[in-house]
Amino acid sequence: MARPSAASEARPPGSIRALPHPAIPPASQLALDLPLGEPALPVLSIAPEWKQQQRLWGHSYHPMCSYLASFPAALTHAFIARYSRPGDVVLDPFSGRGTAPLQACAEGRIGVGNDLNPFAHLLTAAKVAPATRPEARTRLAALRLAWAAGAPGWLALAEKTAADAADRRTLVPRAGSEAPPGSGDEEVPPEVLLSFHRRTFAQLLFVRTVLRLDTRVDRFLAAALTGILHGKSATYLSEVMPNTFSMAPRYVREYVARTGFQSPERDVFDCLELKLNRLYRQHPPTTPGLALLGDARDAGQRAREALRGRGLPDRVRLVIGSPPYLRVVKYGYYNWLRAWLLGLDPRAIDAALDDAHHREPYLAFMRDVLVGLRPALAEDAIVVLVIGDVELDRGRRIRTGVGLAEQVWAAAAEPEGYRLAGIAIDDVAAHRKMTKLWGDEAGRATKTDRILVLGSGEAGRRRAINGAGLPIDWSWPQRGLRAV
Ligand SMILES: C[S@@+](CC[C@H](N)C(=O)[O-])C[C@H]1O[C@@H](n2cnc3c(N)ncnc32)[C@H](O)[C@@H]1O
Repeated sequence: MARPSAASEARPPGSIRALPHPAIPPASQLALDLPLGEPALPVLSIAPEWKQQQRLWGHSYHPMCSYLASFPAALTHAFIARYSRPGDVVLDPFSGRGTAPLQACAEGRIGVGNDLNPFAHLLTAAKVAPATRPEARTRLAALRLAWAAGAPGWLALAEKTAADAADRRTLVPRAGSEAPPGSGDEEVPPEVLLSFHRRTFAQLLFVRTVLRLDTRVDRFLAAALTGILHGKSATYLSEVMPNTFSMAPRYVREYVARTGFQSPERDVFDCLELKLNRLYRQHPPTTPGLALLGDARDAGQRAREALRGRGLPDRVRLVIGSPPYLRVVKYGYYNWLRAWLLGLDPRAIDAALDDAHHREPYLAFMRDVLVGLRPALAEDAIVVLVIGDVELDRGRRIRTGVGLAEQVWAAAAEPEGYRLAGIAIDDVAAHRKMTKLWGDEAGRATKTDRILVLGSGEAGRRRAINGAGLPIDWSWPQRGLRAV
């Protein structure tokens, strides 16, 4: 019997067991010798119309907070609209900031998102189980009042923390502890202090202490706050770094020392109110969804249980997701300032996630994921995996990350009985050439993301192929969903 993979060994107790993996085919058999841009598998002719949509196409909750390697909402629409109907369950086992489940809910499907990163879970939950506008307004008003009453204590704590920054003597209350300013037991990293104006910092200390992330309304406010924590305009609470991700703490120290940067004063409550106004530009989705926190390897089972617990259909008709890349992103480290706000440990996040695999454990991980999804899939389910080519490993050029979608098919999906509908190409020019001139020199020089489209069985494969050419409506908000 084959030795379990590293990915399987790391599996938490209680999760689903994968079958033993046969040897993974050598790289040379898996499209690695092909020129970039040319898939070794049949092309599924889905025009990448999502590339032609506006950057912020889709529901107004989508841009709640930036998230590395998220896919555009328009891409998910291309598959949700073709491969599911209103009322169907759509699952993303790697939901990140919740793009696919939110878009599914906004189109009348039951969107289920799962992620092992608690920050991703917060963002997904905020989008699929949002606060209503009146709820958010009422809570914000209550926070303003509580701040006004307690401001002197929080301002004094902020001053003292800054004065003692060098030896970190002053402790602050933990996020979510609801404790008063004088009762802290947590140090503040000096880079946090450097990032904000003193008053803004005091307000953040207060807000992070009182927000309860296990409640729907507070979670929505906290998720909105993460989206305005840092960025290069007056809508953000700190301008020390761009919005996309947190620059390294060392960068913050050096930048502040070099430029004498001082963050302008920003009122947390005013900025949050403006952010909420932007989020509530459209009506919330009418269909609520589910956000699960856990490993993609047993997301299928947990999704079924959660759906059943709500009296909802428990079979998934469409899976759409983008698995972690090979050693490209560190979701904890690149979000350390947001993690501080939420009381999360960036190191623990990075230690838990499957972002750091080399090729073989990655393929074994993907196989485990596909095994774990199967019990949740409807007979004619379709599984769509958006898999980017990875050309660099921490700066070094690698060959093993190119043609990754093909490798996932051969080493993870085919052995588990999935049926291949084809590879859709996430590149307008390459797609056009490829579908017209398939077999010719087309698309060789173009680096593309590959979208692996699978059927859970033959019925799913046929549905995927037959639905690929269906025209879909790209207007947004769609009729009936338009804000009045
Ligand atoms: C490429 S991102 C997905 C982004 C998402 N499509 C979006 O639009 O925001 C991959 C995600 O996989 C998550 N992840 C990594 N290892 C995981 C695991 N074992 N189980 C579940 N999620 C995992 C990461 O936290 C990250 O959010």
